[in-house]
Amino acid sequence: MANPFTLGVASGEPLPDGVVIWTRLAPAPLTLDPARPGGLPNRAVEVRWQVAEDERFTRIVREGVTQAQPRWAFSVHVRLDGLRPGADYFYRFRSGSDHSPVGRTRTAPAAASAGPVRFAVANCQRYEHGFYTAYRHLAAERPDVIFFVGDYVYESPQAANPVRTLPNTSEADTLAEYRLRYTRYKLDKDLQAAHAAAPWVATWDDHEVADNYTGASSFFRRRARAYQAYYEHLPIRVKPEAHLLQMFRRRVYGQNAEFIVLDSRQFRVPGDMLGAAQEKWLLERLRTSTARWKVLVEPLFFARRFVPGNPPHLRLDAWDGFQEQRRRIFDAGARGLIVLSGDVHNHWASDLHADFLDPRSAIVGAEFVTSSISSRPPATDAPAVLAANPHIKFFDGRRGYLAGTAGATDFRVSYRVVDSVEKAGANVRIVAEFVTEGEGIKRSDV
Ligand SMILES: [Fe+2]
Repeated sequence: MANPFTLGVASGEPLPDGVVIWTRLAPAPLTLDPARPGGLPNRAVEVRWQVAEDERFTRIVREGVTQAQPRWAFSVHVRLDGLRPGADYFYRFRSGSDHSPVGRTRTAPAAASAGPVRFAVANCQRYEHGFYTAYRHLAAERPDVIFFVGDYVYESPQAANPVRTLPNTSEADTLAEYRLRYTRYKLDKDLQAAHAAAPWVATWDDHEVADNYTGASSFFRRRARAYQAYYEHLPIRVKPEAHLLQMFRRRVYGQNAEFIVLDSRQFRVPGDMLGAAQEKWLLERLRTSTARWKVLVEPLFFARRFVPGNPPHLRLDAWDGFQEQRRRIFDAGARGLIVLSGDVHNHWASDLHADFLDPRSAIVGAEFVTSSISSRPPATDAPAVLAANPHIKFFDGRRGYLAGTAGATDFRVSYRVVDSVEKAGANVRIVAEFVTEGEGIKRSDV
């Protein structure tokens, strides 16, 4: 049998004492037979795993055996515990005589830690639109944690003028079609490098299921298939149960940062992006968290963004369509509110004002919007948008990611871009750096 570790390894959901490590067996990854995901017959496969303090595995601290089940496309999720806080670990898997690549992960710091938290933010990696070169550079940075804010795959039919082509070109709908979409994406070596470099904390947007889907019951059966494929390919703690998957959660990084991860799709109904239970939880976290920075990790542009020219001037599927809910988030009065978002396939940075229509109103937070890893941007008249929205301070129209630091006094974000995604191996550059102490963002690179 061919080596089954074709999709790489991953880790995620860091806690001070543990992480989840992931792999999926797929010796013939692009097999089209729905009865043989990854090319394996319908019986469980034994997988051994090891965790060490060093990359050469001379100091092994945990090891064990688990079963990769056909029911879950031979994916493996091992929840590790008993690890030290704020520490690097290395992990690998073995099946028969085949070894996986080695992954590096890192636990969250201890509750009392006031050390800086180094993070990255990425999203929107449409395969046909280009190469994942940004991930090659992100992986080399080895941040403490990588946040992914949606559109891990696109269910859509193959894009026009593809830079890279899909094995299944029609829209994904069956479980086998969703699995094959993830499989094609995860064969990418740059994406594998980003997963092997640091633990991920991911949330989703719409394209993991269907364009602009909501919490309506008409999507339940389809999203159950899509959520299953999502679980099978990401290092998350919780399994889906039919059409439900617990996504909103928090990850505490010592005293500096509480990352509050939102689910903007599963419970969405008209006028309510989050659903009552998630909103109640979120407002409670904003009122009671003692972290220096309360960081919302979510897909959608949070600040008001008025687009001059032809209507619609506001995007009603982002937070501008949920202004009362946004108001209640501001009214929770959190000190040190930060939003890390994406979705729009361009870089933006913005102050958050108590009243966006009054530029002299109090600044209540900051938003850093990451561009896409590869997905093409919409046509954008950036100078007109910046002029119409004085709270928005920055735009860049290239693909890239964010790298930042949550410190004890300031929060810093660096905007990285790649020169091109149409050919592999492009350079990366820093186009802007911002810092805030909670009272407005300032350029720190000029
Ligand atoms: Fe996207």
